Amino acid sequence: MVRELFNLNGKVAIITGAGQGIGREIALLLAKNGAKTVLIDINEKVFEVLEDIRALNREGLAIKCDVSNSEEVKRAVKDILEKFGSVDILVNNAGIYPFKPFTEMTEWEWERVLDVNLKGVFYFTREVLTKMIERGEDNKHCFNCRISHQLSKSRALFGEQSRHSRLHKSTSP
Ligand SMILES: NC(=O)c1ccc[n+]([C@@H]2O[C@H](COP(=O)([O-])OP(=O)(O)OC[C@H]3O[C@@H](n4cnc5c(N)ncnc54)[C@H](O)[C@@H]3O)[C@@H](O)[C@H]2O)c1
Repeated sequence: MVRELFNLNGKVAIITGAGQGIGREIALLLAKNGAKTVLIDINEKVFEVLEDIRALNREGLAIKCDVSNSEEVKRAVKDILEKFGSVDILVNNAGIYPFKPFTEMTEWEWERVLDVNLKGVFYFTREVLTKMIERGEDNKHCFNCRISHQLSKSRALFGEQSRHSRLHKSTSP
């Protein structure tokens, strides 16, 4: 029964920021439960995680992509669909925060935080959701490890998602 609940055989899961930390662990967990994982990261380390996935005898794909760049995101989702045909799970995990006192943060650093943590979620969710809607797919899942409270409550995003898939919000601000 529990095994059935967590059976992800045949499901395709995208995890952003999968090169290390929480994203890497999520990717390995989903792969262990049968999912084909797509590992997205700006860092080359993502290819090492792909080796870890293959060592589990699971299918995977690693793509070096900056989630804050809409063109790179579009290209990545196109490549994913060409390889796997569909997407069942999106984990918006990639995120940054400068390790320095808030009062010392520069405008450029703050803008970069917004670009990665906010725009990145927007670009990936928009791209994946658009493809799901085009294909008339449902019972899909979108997990946001980092998402602004306002964006997660946005009628536009939540309304679209709830009709076609399930949106899972995190407690992160
Ligand atoms: N660790 C915590 O205590 C904690 C708490 C609350 C929320 N979070 C959030 O959870 C997520 C993961 O946290 P973590 O501790 O594993 O972080 P981490 O810094 O260890 O890993 C983040 C990964 O995201 C990648 N990344 C950064 N910018 C990117 C970009 N533009 N495009 C693609 N990939 C990019 C990094 O290369 C890295 O591999 C982050 O969004 C973080 O803000 C973490």
